[in-house]
Amino acid sequence: MTLLTWSHACTVGVKAMDDQHGILMDTMNELRDDLLHGCNREQLDESLERLVDFTRKHFASEEHLLQAYNFPGLLEHRAAHQRLLSEIRKTVRRAENCDSLQVHPLLEFLRSWYMEHIESLDRQYGPWLNARGVY
Ligand SMILES: [Fe+2]
Ligand SMILES: [Fe+2]
Repeated sequence: MTLLTWSHACTVGVKAMDDQHGILMDTMNELRDDLLHGCNREQLDESLERLVDFTRKHFASEEHLLQAYNFPGLLEHRAAHQRLLSEIRKTVRRAENCDSLQVHPLLEFLRSWYMEHIESLDRQYGPWLNARGVY
């Protein structure tokens, strides 16, 4: 599993959200590091919980911003967050109950869901917010 690096496709053009996406990616990179270099189960579970917790906070913060600026795709975006969060929770529960060797493919799933969401849905609100003075 490779490190998550920034690319143009990951940038949504709103600093607060780009920063939060950066933290999400850092958290996943730390998890990857933990898995590669070996860590105890407790440490791994803590990192997984942190990822879920931060994801929940990020989604709430993004929805709050979209609502404040009447983004027309808010309902669709919120529904996508709910689906994603439920998939992430399920995957993390699975990861917590399996051997740490099996966590790697689960982390790959998580990573592709995040990237897919940021590159498709998150990027759509950038121009709308930029046009209203939010960068
Ligand atoms: Fe989003
Ligand atoms: Fe996001």
